[in-house]
Amino acid sequence: MTSRADRVIDEVTTAISIADLVRLAEQRMTPEAWDYVAGGAEDEVTLGESLTAFRRYRFVPRVLVDISGVDTRTTLLGREVAVPIGVAPVAAQALAHPDGEIATSRAAAASGAMFCLSTVSSRSIEEVAAAAPSGPRWFQLYVNEDRRFTRRLIERAEAAGYDAIVLTVDLPVLGYREREKRRGWELDVSLGNFVAPDGAAAAGEARQTDGEVDLDRLLDTRHLGLSWDDLAGIRAATSLPLVIKGVLHPDDARLAVEHGAAAVWVSNHGGRQLDRAVQALHAVEAVVAAVDGRAEVYLDGGVRRGSDALIAIALGARAVFTGRPFVFGLGAGGEAGVGRAFDILREELERAMALLGTRTLAEVRREHVAAAAP
Ligand SMILES: Cc1cc2nc3c(=O)[nH]c(=O)nc-3n(C[C@H](O)[C@H](O)[C@H](O)COP(=O)(O)O)c2cc1C
Repeated sequence: MTSRADRVIDEVTTAISIADLVRLAEQRMTPEAWDYVAGGAEDEVTLGESLTAFRRYRFVPRVLVDISGVDTRTTLLGREVAVPIGVAPVAAQALAHPDGEIATSRAAAASGAMFCLSTVSSRSIEEVAAAAPSGPRWFQLYVNEDRRFTRRLIERAEAAGYDAIVLTVDLPVLGYREREKRRGWELDVSLGNFVAPDGAAAAGEARQTDGEVDLDRLLDTRHLGLSWDDLAGIRAATSLPLVIKGVLHPDDARLAVEHGAAAVWVSNHGGRQLDRAVQALHAVEAVVAAVDGRAEVYLDGGVRRGSDALIAIALGARAVFTGRPFVFGLGAGGEAGVGRAFDILREELERAMALLGTRTLAEVRREHVAAAAP
């Protein structure tokens, strides 16, 4: 007789696309957690468009190219990764599965992929580092109004072997996510980085007596006056490179470089912040031109196929990140589900590269994609 755990693993290993994992996750996650992860801001125009944006491009393949040994490797800020597809920072992953970021980071490390841990993660900076010690990892920073707390987060990430600080800049206020409001559900979850080692909750206003933390209230304690002027202080607090996440305007990309960013991450926060914001995919070419080789450029939002990643790379991104597919993999089957999501995306990317006549990511060029006919 097969156990429930075996059945879950069987089901995720037979998933043949990310869409299959999404369906499994919807069956397994609580409706509240599902709405939290799946939802976007207001009318979800930006969220909806993120899933169709990639369909506006078509490949222009080259033929009779020797494609034996297609190679998906690249480097991110000097560190080699096996695939140009990383895990975007997603808050409170224990909502999807009790193993949370432990499972996601382990699956990423097993796939040789970059894992970016959220400030508001279920598991702490140190727990995740210990779970996947050899995996490439970055730490995503929300700047709290308690500056000492922010500085401490940066120091903890550096001490725990994270390779970069990813400063998220598209959350000056919280986006209005109506699915959650309609449910009237307060998102009270344990957040690993807000519990001091002695078990006492730490984080000023967001502290609650039961040790749980209200995520929205916590994000309300972020530093409201955050501006370009603060970047020098953040850079001075660490020797790690700084990535600026949430840029859509080419002038902001330029400013990021001028303020010492090593990379610019083009993103609209998965359609969860400013509804009707442009798609990262449509903004990336102007950002790449503005950056002009002075920093790396990544993109996220709506990547659901290996071929989506390939389109983004043809438009100039060095790599892509994706959030929901891995969290839905987690909800579908824990670490095995995230691993399956990686396998699917990597195989799709390899196949698309071979069919496009490109052996390496460096060979993928703008001329390999064209706008779809109207
Ligand atoms: C449930 C959820 C929580 C998120 N939490 C964070 C976060 O804590 N920090 C952050 O910088 N971005 C966060 N994001 C945004 C992601 O990093 C990423 O920009 C977005 O998910 C990309 O879109 P995709 O889900 O279509 O791949 C979150 C996204 C989701 C779906």
